[in-house]
Amino acid sequence: MLLDARPYVEEKIKELKERVNKLNKQPKLVIIRVGNDFASGKYVANKVKRCEEVGIKSEIVHLDENVTNGEVLKKIMMLNNDRDVTGILLQLPLPEHLNEEYLTNAIDPEKDVDGFTIANMGRLALGIEGNVACTPRGIISLLKYYNVELQGKNVLIINRSNIVGKPLTHLLLRENATVTVAHSKTKDLYDQVLAADIVVTAIGKAEHFDTHDFSKDTTIVDVSINFNEEGKMCGDVRKSHYDTLIEELNCNVTPVPNGVGQMTVIELIEQTIEIAERTNNGN
Ligand code: GUN
Repeated sequence: MLLDARPYVEEKIKELKERVNKLNKQPKLVIIRVGNDFASGKYVANKVKRCEEVGIKSEIVHLDENVTNGEVLKKIMMLNNDRDVTGILLQLPLPEHLNEEYLTNAIDPEKDVDGFTIANMGRLALGIEGNVACTPRGIISLLKYYNVELQGKNVLIINRSNIVGKPLTHLLLRENATVTVAHSKTKDLYDQVLAADIVVTAIGKAEHFDTHDFSKDTTIVDVSINFNEEGKMCGDVRKSHYDTLIEELNCNVTPVPNGVGQMTVIELIEQTIEIAERTNNGN
């Protein structure tokens, strides 16, 4: 089956609109963008569009490429102390001269909609409620929406980043899956791909995997957003092989576009609303 995110997103938008209507005050998401990275600009625009659809406020703080650590920190502190601000997102990657780890961690954990602070990552690892990284959240929501069983399944995650691999490991353990995390130094990667029930790939290589790499009945979650030689958006799995994977090997595949990327944005909006609901933000 093609695990298309669009039906989930459509239903979710309706639900989120109703939840926003029940609040006394509109939640507000602030996105800090530094410099002019092209991909970041597109991602930020998608996030703002979804905020509008659901009826929450959003603001982009667009800082100059040459801004200092101190200036970004000052802005984050102002937003931490602003009672009208529900969630703060520092769009990554930052320019080289900025300290990504330090600045990310300066965000108030309660307003950290990305779940990237030490406090929220620690909470996730310990199984305590907190804000959780949006892409891993979206992967779990999409798999549950399509009734993909997780309990007892062998899941191979090909990514060990703080944004995807690490938080997803903890969410999958919570669902009683057996998790293997592979990375660039992993031996026998292709044997592991063949052996897994569920493969989550975020290697970032355009159309790297095809039908021959997977066994029958595998669920394939493609997290990457790449561009192929024709300049078309694609994932790590060859798009022209989706049909054979689904029809001949009975696999599930999340498409790119309209898969995990859409889920990340909707989870971000939902987490902003959750923060407003939990903290009675601004009231
Ligand atoms: N850059 C790419 N993905 C993300 C994300 O989920 N959050 C932030 N803040 N930056 C990103």
